[in-house]
Amino acid sequence: MNDDRNEPVRGFSTRAIRAASRTPRVDQRPTSVPIYQTATFASHDAQELGDVAGEPRSGYAYSRISNPTTNALGDAYAELAGGERGLALASGMGAIHAALASQLRAGDRVLAPLAIYGSTRAQLLHTFAGFGVEVAFVDATDPAAVTEALAAHPTRVLYAETIANPTTFVSDHARLATLAHEHGATYIVDNTFASPYVCRPLDLGADLVVESATKFLGGHSDVIAGVVAGREELIAKVERVQIDTGATVGPFDAFLVLRGILTLAIRMERHAATALALATWLEGHAGVQRVLYPGLASHPQRAVAMRQFRSGVAGGMLAIDVAGGREAGRAVIDSLRVTELTASLGSVHTIVVHPPSTSQRQLSESELYEAGITPGLLRISVGLEDFEDLQADLEFGLTESSRLASAALGV
Ligand SMILES: Cc1ncc(COP(=O)(O)O)c(C=O)c1O
Repeated sequence: MNDDRNEPVRGFSTRAIRAASRTPRVDQRPTSVPIYQTATFASHDAQELGDVAGEPRSGYAYSRISNPTTNALGDAYAELAGGERGLALASGMGAIHAALASQLRAGDRVLAPLAIYGSTRAQLLHTFAGFGVEVAFVDATDPAAVTEALAAHPTRVLYAETIANPTTFVSDHARLATLAHEHGATYIVDNTFASPYVCRPLDLGADLVVESATKFLGGHSDVIAGVVAGREELIAKVERVQIDTGATVGPFDAFLVLRGILTLAIRMERHAATALALATWLEGHAGVQRVLYPGLASHPQRAVAMRQFRSGVAGGMLAIDVAGGREAGRAVIDSLRVTELTASLGSVHTIVVHPPSTSQRQLSESELYEAGITPGLLRISVGLEDFEDLQADLEFGLTESSRLASAALGV
């Protein structure tokens, strides 16, 4: 707003609106990114207003289109992910939608993994298929199956998750990117379970990387946001979708994610150290049939994980198959006291979920089986609590579930 203190303003309301809208002049650079909590930015004249709203934009006009705090998050993510440019969006699903919609048109085909986050599967089958996109699924951990699926029909997008939700299957990005490019497809990766501290898919050949910033990037279960990074020309198309669909993140939410990123490395180190200790202990536990953690020698894609991940940091996500199936899995969750009974991941809080009855509940028994999700599968997002407390809580949950199973059998 122009400095109009000398203008003859008489009415109280006019004076209040002007007085409370004057932005302070600051000559010293703030050391945190300021929260530009404004929907609009005023220009000096009509020419400037036209320029800032035009293409390419030379400044700020309206926060659905562009905002300094939101841009700071996009820039920070691009740097950490190794992309030329990054964008911050309203949520992980908003980021996934914008990335896919920037590439797909009616009649195109997208090939996605059988083991995939339930809401992404739903978005592909409801939104994209509804607009005439052909959606096919494949075992993304089997390069021969991916090659066959790509060779069978022209494919516009090959999509994968670095560490699959919820099974922790690991995608071989270098291999999948090469296959995608040989078949003329764009390779898009959801890196949410890993975070850029653990894995950088763009370095391994991916064209676009997306993440739910709600998870490890934000890290504290207090914000919903998403990010995308990649080459400038691809991000310009993602931005077009973002602006047209309004999948914009608010400046305060962008600030919270920036704040989370300040401690991402130290949090990921601790998540991973505790996850490895828990996975190692659980692997020897009688109440657990299988432990899936990319840091364990027994993980089916251990070698791929070791090639692609930061040395010694296999992430904070693990999955266990509880002896006794669906009822036993639910019983463990109901007995836990230290962990949070909620649906997210990548937080300071440890979060244990039973995917067959939560995030993957849309799937039929045969679809669950195809995706590698056994009835007793529990997904554990290891938080920052003390290892001993988590161990004791899980021990109690597993004991309780086997006690209930014995009681049900009358033994
Ligand atoms: C792997 C993965 N991708 C994307 C999302 C969606 O993120 P958001 O809830 O921020 O939209 C989630 C949410 O759980 C997820 O687990």
